Amino acid sequence: MPAHPAFSIHTYGCQMNVRDSDLLARRLRAAGFAEAASEDEADVVLVNSCSVREKAEEKALGKLGMLCAARRDRPGLVVGLTGCMANRLGPDVFGLVPGLSFSVGPRAAGPAIVSLVRRALAGAKGMFVPDTARAEDGASPADDTAAGPAAVSSFVTILYGCNQRCSYCIVPSVRGSEESRDPRAIVAEVRAEAARGAKDVCLLGQSVMRYGRMGFAWPEDIPSPMGFTEPLPRLLELVAREVPEVRRLRFTSGHPSGVTDELVRAMREIPAVCPHLHLPMQSGSDRILKEMRRGYDSARYLAAVRRLREGVPDIAITTDVIVGYPGETEEDFEATRRVMEEAGFDNAFVFKYSPRPGTPSSLLEDDVPDEEKRRRDQVLLADQDARGQRCNDRWVGRTVEVLAEGPSLRNAARWSGRTGQNKIVVFDPVPGLRAGDFVRVAVSSARPQTLYGEVQRA
Ligand code: 5AD
Ligand code: SF4
Repeated sequence: MPAHPAFSIHTYGCQMNVRDSDLLARRLRAAGFAEAASEDEADVVLVNSCSVREKAEEKALGKLGMLCAARRDRPGLVVGLTGCMANRLGPDVFGLVPGLSFSVGPRAAGPAIVSLVRRALAGAKGMFVPDTARAEDGASPADDTAAGPAAVSSFVTILYGCNQRCSYCIVPSVRGSEESRDPRAIVAEVRAEAARGAKDVCLLGQSVMRYGRMGFAWPEDIPSPMGFTEPLPRLLELVAREVPEVRRLRFTSGHPSGVTDELVRAMREIPAVCPHLHLPMQSGSDRILKEMRRGYDSARYLAAVRRLREGVPDIAITTDVIVGYPGETEEDFEATRRVMEEAGFDNAFVFKYSPRPGTPSSLLEDDVPDEEKRRRDQVLLADQDARGQRCNDRWVGRTVEVLAEGPSLRNAARWSGRTGQNKIVVFDPVPGLRAGDFVRVAVSSARPQTLYGEVQRA
């Protein structure tokens, strides 16, 4: 066994996985492991997987297979699986990936990871830890917050699992049922993120607006000076008040049923709460929405969008859409195009329907040919490009506050950062600029997904 084993984590899937990977890395660093400079130099490689679409699973399985095969040249290499696939596949994964050292569910991973890695380095194989315990400290980093570099933007999970049972979605079966975290634990974790340098914190839940709606009572001794009665607005108020160093607060993902008057007021009146909401729509066809069991029709969805636009100045609204759901006709698809246009989304993520084992829709015939799914995907993306350009053109000539993140991915001579609306802004850095600084940028041009501008000196 190497004296100071180095680890590397490969992450697929959503922001919750990004968060979980970060927490696992911190636990491993706190236990004396080092982060490998690259995967090739690692003694331990973790694959944090996603089950939401078959493609995501194929990628993770391919990666695991490659890593296990690399053992021929790197005999001591430890390969571990975590994330949603660990729960979905159970112990069967060891048949699919011979040589896998361990597989651990996303909630169990935090407390178990250090001991699993140590046992694996000592030669153990085939260890399986499913998600069973529902301990609050499952992912809490309270004990090892000091480990690891500062992150300008960070995530904190506030709601585990999901009870919505949309027909196509595997999340309830891989992430379990809803469980809201205690607001005091959330404040402690946000504070710890702020201490590491986070200026922007996004509160996470698969269906975040269900926070505090199930098996939960808001602690009586935490008042709401703003007079909120609903748990999510109360939580936003509390976090903003208790951790003012976090200049930007976000929450994701939304659902139209959660767009209440109180929530809109919280977004408008709490200065830290960003004017941005990711509000997955999934389809614009009322028939398909019903089949999907989304709990709203297009009129209710659009009413939520209207309420947000009227109540929150300059709000950006983004969405997810699925194309090619079983039985989706050309007419259904055209309805989606229309409703997307009416909603005026700033950005949209389009997914081709993928049947997932055990979900209600997997019993239906996946009857939209792949080619047609691809076409619908392309059409929606082209629509969105034009719409995104129009949305962003409205920012040209205005000055925006940007949280600087660092050199731009495309052109390292320039920097990028984000506005409160979560729009990416590219600009030339000024001397002394550091990641985590807020700068005012005059927007001079726009593309569908990016704004460009010049820093204004104070
Ligand atoms: N097929 C395709 N897309 C899916 N999503 C969830 N389940 C599926 C599926 N079976 C999409 C939804 C969700 C996003 C995270 O992934 O649009 O909002
Ligand atoms: Fe993927 Fe959903 Fe799991 Fe996130 S919660 S990793 S999107 S399956």
